[in-house]
Amino acid sequence: MIHAIFGRRYTFSAAHRLHSDQLSVEENRLAYGKCNNPHGHGHNYVLEVQCAGEVDAETGMVINLATLDEIVHRTVISRFDHTNLNLDPLFEKAVPTTENLTIAVFELLEPEILKTGCKLAKLRIEETENNFFEYSR
Ligand code: NI
Repeated sequence: MIHAIFGRRYTFSAAHRLHSDQLSVEENRLAYGKCNNPHGHGHNYVLEVQCAGEVDAETGMVINLATLDEIVHRTVISRFDHTNLNLDPLFEKAVPTTENLTIAVFELLEPEILKTGCKLAKLRIEETENNFFEYSR
């Protein structure tokens, strides 16, 4: 069996405010700086999904691109695009840092991708030109 990784990029835009209820006003300001500003700010996130699996002998593919697109749009893009992440139930208790967003997106996608026979090998979210976060297990 030949294994390979297929990766694909997606984009979505969302707002967030980095603020922890566990911290004081001053501690929040120290921890998050201007990312703690009360009215939040937005990012154009770039999501990179890497699927690992066997190269199908007949199709020559690891995963059908259209299948992956459908999964990512249904579970991630439609949920987060043009929203305020702080208002999503996933971030009711967790601060919507991109670390936490990356893990949350991984957990949403993993079971859906497993149904196709592939594994979610790695997930990466770019928050800005200079910041990116990766998660795998
Ligand atoms: Ni931010």
